[in-house]
Amino acid sequence: MKNILFVASEGVPFIKTGGLADVVGSLPKSIAKEYYDVRVVLPRYLCMKQEVKEQMEYITHFFMDFEDKQHYVGLLQANYCGVQYYFIDNEEFFQGNKPYGQDELQEIRKWVYFSKAVLSALPVLKFKPDLIHCHDWQTGMLPVYLKERFRAGEFYEKIKSVMTIHNLKFQGKWDVKTVQKITGLADFYFTPDKLEAYKDANLLKGGLVFADAITTVSKAYAQEIKTTFFGEGLEGLLQARSNDLRGIVNGIDYEEFNPEKDPAIEYPYNQITYRKEKLKNKKALQQELGLEVNDKRFMVGIVSRLTEQKGLDLIAYMMDEICQDDIQIVVLGTGETKYENMFRHFEWKYPEKVSANIYYSEALSHKVYAACDAFLMPSLFEPCGLSQLISLRYGTVPIVRETGGLIDTVDPYNQYENSGTGFSFKNYNAHEMLAALRYAEEIYYYKRREWNKIVDRGMLADYSWEVSAKKYQEMYDWLIGY
Ligand code: ADP
Ligand code: GLC
Repeated sequence: MKNILFVASEGVPFIKTGGLADVVGSLPKSIAKEYYDVRVVLPRYLCMKQEVKEQMEYITHFFMDFEDKQHYVGLLQANYCGVQYYFIDNEEFFQGNKPYGQDELQEIRKWVYFSKAVLSALPVLKFKPDLIHCHDWQTGMLPVYLKERFRAGEFYEKIKSVMTIHNLKFQGKWDVKTVQKITGLADFYFTPDKLEAYKDANLLKGGLVFADAITTVSKAYAQEIKTTFFGEGLEGLLQARSNDLRGIVNGIDYEEFNPEKDPAIEYPYNQITYRKEKLKNKKALQQELGLEVNDKRFMVGIVSRLTEQKGLDLIAYMMDEICQDDIQIVVLGTGETKYENMFRHFEWKYPEKVSANIYYSEALSHKVYAACDAFLMPSLFEPCGLSQLISLRYGTVPIVRETGGLIDTVDPYNQYENSGTGFSFKNYNAHEMLAALRYAEEIYYYKRREWNKIVDRGMLADYSWEVSAKKYQEMYDWLIGY
């Protein structure tokens, strides 16, 4: 049996802000239980829902040296779908009404504390991992600490580490002196071949330098991040480590996202019944959101964090033009104020056509995936993207820009070859997006049989975790040894 420990800042069903939580919540369940004992560590945030907190059971606590005093480390546990979860509790660091705060320095302190607390907790939990699988910059210090101060003890000596990049944009940077004080690491670590990048200390870089292997969440993004545009300044390092870097595309939880058994949707459906039942869901949603109730309208969904990454500038630029068409746009998302207000504005301007739902709702998201005809995702960059996978599963045709995971997972419609599961465009250009959207509209309105075949192919495509979980297992075996 090989022991694997996932360490991350969010995971479904405990806490979620984006796709990272979906991955951390679903991948461990899919790894073969006969060969791997996979456990997960998350923080215990004050902002977690009461019912989630009630599932947790206190194990013990200890005090840990951090900066210049002793800090409380509480340990809790819960079991979810057969996977053992641990939670690190400290009310100073994990307070607030969101998992991530605005104060960047406090964020750095929080995640260094967390990384150190996780390693310190292992002997207390009597769980010795063969490999620690770290996710994103918040856990970047773990591989560094593993090779440094924790190495001395026999307990830590042989533990391997993997760093998975879900989003290279976020790296956790602050000035060297301060980070040195927070981490307690020697000068030796703050050189450009280790934690330093462009004069700052960079936690993700630490993880990428010291981890035994690096992965990212699609094959295309694994290539892109070695280039200047996508590399966010770390392209040189990623090129240098390209032998240890692989892209493994994300899956989605086929139990949670199943239109046939989804408690959030009014009219469940499958590959055979979708033609009738999707329309019923569409009318129900139009009614609920106050849009014109008409099941013939082409309805496009957007469920997204509202940030630059998601290509919202293209949408903002084209919205007036798009709203001249026979179309309805349903948005569900939160994020930057300018994008939130942009959608609110267009809802005010075109009340029959646009519905802007500026909040977070699991239930509404499922209804949008189920009710819409198409899903628009014109991302500027996209490490993998899960929304398009959920859309495919729900028979909702993705319209995407050809970047990162969107390239790997959406096969563009080809009318001559009778192939494709969605529509796509290449350049980050609003007119190209509009052309792809209008092409989709044309097929929807005038070639419905072709449209239905696109839906059929999308619903048949397999984006469960099965294949990708095996690739992770292969990597674990390669690193740990057979
Ligand atoms: P990212 O991780 O970059 O945000 P992904 O496509 O990988 O993008 O994952 C986003 C996940 O978050 C999807 O499961 C999507 O449905 C969900 N999501 C995003 N915004 C909302 C929202 N406002 N309400 C409910 N779910 C949301
Ligand atoms: C990040 C990326 C997204 C990816 C998700 C899960 O949030 O932005 O593309 O799907 O992580 O890996």
